Amino acid sequence: MTSQTDSAQDKDRVLIFDTTMRDGEQSPGATMTLEEKLQIAALLDEMGVDIIEAGFPIASDGDFEAVSEIAKLLQNAVTCGLARASKGDIERAWQALQHAKKPRIHTFIGTSPLHREHQLSMTKEQVLDKIRETVTFARSLCDNVQWSPMDATRTEEDYLVETVAMAVECGATTINIPDTVGYTAPRESAGLITMLHQRVPGLKDCVVATHCHNDLGMATANALAAVEAGARQIECTINGLGERAGNTALEEVVMAMKVRKDIMPFHTGIDTTQIMKASRLVSTVSGFAVQYNKAIVGKNAFAHESGIHQDGMLKNAETFEIMRPEDVGLTESNLVMGKHSGRAAFKDKLAQMGFDLGDNAFQEAFVRFKALADSKKEVYDDDIIALIEDQQTSANHNRMQMVSLGMVCGTEGPATATLTMEIDGKTHHHETTGNGPVDATFNAVKALVPHTARLKLYQVHAVTDGTDAQAEVSVRLEEDGKIVTGHAANADTLVASGRAYINALNKLMVRREKSAPPVQAAE
Ligand code: KIV
Ligand code: ZN
Repeated sequence: MTSQTDSAQDKDRVLIFDTTMRDGEQSPGATMTLEEKLQIAALLDEMGVDIIEAGFPIASDGDFEAVSEIAKLLQNAVTCGLARASKGDIERAWQALQHAKKPRIHTFIGTSPLHREHQLSMTKEQVLDKIRETVTFARSLCDNVQWSPMDATRTEEDYLVETVAMAVECGATTINIPDTVGYTAPRESAGLITMLHQRVPGLKDCVVATHCHNDLGMATANALAAVEAGARQIECTINGLGERAGNTALEEVVMAMKVRKDIMPFHTGIDTTQIMKASRLVSTVSGFAVQYNKAIVGKNAFAHESGIHQDGMLKNAETFEIMRPEDVGLTESNLVMGKHSGRAAFKDKLAQMGFDLGDNAFQEAFVRFKALADSKKEVYDDDIIALIEDQQTSANHNRMQMVSLGMVCGTEGPATATLTMEIDGKTHHHETTGNGPVDATFNAVKALVPHTARLKLYQVHAVTDGTDAQAEVSVRLEEDGKIVTGHAANADTLVASGRAYINALNKLMVRREKSAPPVQAAE
């Protein structure tokens, strides 16, 4: 990876700052567990992300732990922790970063009139004093300090110049210009960066970053315009995950600069062949499905349906394709093997796909693969990915699990589910009805594990084509402001649904107080 210093010598190198686990996770419902964050962090580090914003340590003990564990894990990337403009926040962020090879404190304060008056109740002078105090303090702890004027794009120009100059003078090494409410347009975004470079001479020794939200669908265009005007760090998230309409999508800015090098002669350190894997992981973990026509990572992004397109593609792929699917890690979903495939072939396949399982996990995966191959004629790469992800999900949270599910449904009468679960080592059984098979399944789970959590999302996605495709199900629950998302995959949609629900309940148990009594199973 290129460090901030290396990149300063390479004027066309754009640093990629991923905030999927901070700004992305702020999207209601996108809460991730520690294990999930560690999985994402490892992949981002491997794919060449320069800076990973791992969380907001003062926000909760969970956020603190996540930043601290990610800091221990990262080999190449800088670990960044967010802090408001307060010494307490900054100290907490610094504690969480103690084990980072390359730590960065990111501190911010609202600078626009709306933020000053309504959020902070502070005058311009008071905000300037806070910047002086907090950036100086952060720099006394850490050499690598990023400062952001929140709502910069709605801040008076002269005042923005004053605040940026203050942060630079107090030692900030990166100045980030956020379009917090997704209000700016590309020409303005570029103009702002140019103006700051002209009016704040000290900026030449800092990295200037752009942080765009997508409320008007311009986050990618705004970030690229800022780069053309001299920004050299883009803040972004995988799949554009983030509050409201989301943040700049990592895959879009990275691929835009790669494909349109002719007009945007910039480069990043990203291994673009890992993009699909990251997209899939973040979508699974967050429960936020990627829209089919999403640029770069949508299911249809490389699909050519119309006759004219297909004809052209067969003659020369470049007639309708500006980038190759392989460039983003999209390979044909290969037919892997069937029920006669042996252990060695399966192990080989997993290795080719980048899965490195220990002995026990491999044995379990092989048993699951055999069961899948028995129920489904053709097993594809995507099936194997879903199978391994499902195994990893259930390995993490297993206080409760489904033992078996039986179902009677159809045109006659209400659907009836017969469910057996193991809860804290004991077997429980319940039969109940519902308005359709999914409702009956969920009612049976609720009867065995009484709770007050509300269902916020139930989503089914077919892993491959065909009516025998595995179903990947996400279930999001909310209880007292705590939001969790459970996942499961199975060739039987109802089994996957019930298991996803149980997975979400397991995660909810973890989120409840550590001293929670054993789960009460109704008899
Ligand atoms: O959008 C925003 O202003 C932010 C800041 C914390 C950088 O996310
Ligand atoms: Zn933001």
